[in-house]
Amino acid sequence: MFLLEISYLIGSITFIVGLKMLSSPDSARKGNIYAAIGMGIAILATILFHEKDGHSIGNIPWILGAMAIGTVIGWLMAMKVKMTAMPQMVSFFNGMGGACAAIIALVEFHGHGSASHDWGFLLIVFLGLAIGSVSFSGSIIAHGKLDGWINDTRGSWMKIVNLIMLAAVLAMVVGEVLAPGTFGPNAIWILLVISLLYGITFVLPIGGADMPVVISLLNSFTGMAAAFGGFLYGNAVMLTGGILVGSAGTILTVLMCQAMNRSLLNVIIGSFGGGGAAAGGGADGEQVAKEISLTDAAILCAYANKVVIVPGYGLAVAQAQHVCHEFEKALEGRGVDVSFAIHPVAGRMPGHMNVLLAEADVPYPKLVEMEDANPQLPNTDVLIVVGANDVVNPAAEDDPSSPIYGMPVIQAWNAKNVIVMKRSMKPGYAGIQNQLFFHPKTKMLFGDAKDSLQNLVSELKNL
Ligand code: TAP
Repeated sequence: MFLLEISYLIGSITFIVGLKMLSSPDSARKGNIYAAIGMGIAILATILFHEKDGHSIGNIPWILGAMAIGTVIGWLMAMKVKMTAMPQMVSFFNGMGGACAAIIALVEFHGHGSASHDWGFLLIVFLGLAIGSVSFSGSIIAHGKLDGWINDTRGSWMKIVNLIMLAAVLAMVVGEVLAPGTFGPNAIWILLVISLLYGITFVLPIGGADMPVVISLLNSFTGMAAAFGGFLYGNAVMLTGGILVGSAGTILTVLMCQAMNRSLLNVIIGSFGGGGAAAGGGADGEQVAKEISLTDAAILCAYANKVVIVPGYGLAVAQAQHVCHEFEKALEGRGVDVSFAIHPVAGRMPGHMNVLLAEADVPYPKLVEMEDANPQLPNTDVLIVVGANDVVNPAAEDDPSSPIYGMPVIQAWNAKNVIVMKRSMKPGYAGIQNQLFFHPKTKMLFGDAKDSLQNLVSELKNL
């Protein structure tokens, strides 16, 4: 028992240290490994040392077999996943966590307490089941939407259905806790089905661009459900892990909403990101975007004092982070001051740009957060947008009818010259047109970001 407690303590400490290390790209990889080792120690110790009523855990071959299968599947998925498909994989793994929490609640209810009248036990079981199930089915729908095999389902009737489902889930939990048996002998199964359905109808109407926020919210649900499991088993490491995941997910959700200047309610019931293709676009039919040649773009950058690069989702799609770093070094070799302006929700997941650029060994001090970058832009000779769109859209500041109005953006138009690298005039994730592309200071450099940057590096060498 002593060894078990010690291993849980080690597990809890490595989770906390690992989580702290995740906050910087330099230490994130190590932090992840520390937390995984801590989790491994806690699992092994449970299998080896856990005892109840004098009996050890049993079923060891089954447990080890399941662990081996899960490890191989997880390993293969993680090795094969493209950087751009990371959010859907996170969502899938999160869904599995929710399913585990729900199964724990079901097993414990039937194993120990189906006749229990202990309200504390029932509260933990029913809440764990409801939250875990919502997290599981919601995460799978979020995965499908991000992967493109499930479409948004909208309509005001969805809001009514959702409210009814939520009320039903809450009524069942409260009813069964306060007066066990209120909803009959199969109440736990009915709650399971309603919660699973609620997870589906809750996520279906939410716009595609809001999926990362929803995934983070579901992540916090899974953490909470796991913490309930920790209570049930009196398991310190499960409780610590669940609380950490739950609170980290909640903080992340709040931060993302703040970065988009929207409330969580607006994200959940709003329809940002899927609809009206040209909303807020203005009369773009009459406007013509100016193009720039590779040579002119290279000359403009080479003779600038200060260049700011604004990376976005297109950088990830093109996997252009390495060549972007080469471009930065080529300019610095010519004495140009180069930095990266990072928008908090650029890309498709929190810290997406930081992770990509860290992978390419871009020094961390070169990454400037949006609030610090914006005041520097009037003194910037050339601002280069690499596959970003919504995060540099002036409609966020000057078009109250735009769905992104109020979202803080990188004020690219304040730089002396703007070069936008993208493949076409198509809108970004929010589905809205961008007036920056028609701005008098802006010139478009069409093409895949990786190819364009590679060609710019070659041009710079020839100058
Ligand atoms: P987006 O607005 O999605 O724009 C990306 C642009 O990249 C597109 O306009 C696309 O234009 C271009 N692109 C795609 N592939 C390319 C390639 N191979 N080479 C060059 N360009 C390419 O991206 P953003 O500015 O990063 O904004 C992120 C969006 O996601 C925001 O709406 C944000 O609110 C939303 N969101 C993000 C998060 C997080 S946590 N990151 C959370 C919630 C919501 P072409 O197709 O013409 O090339």
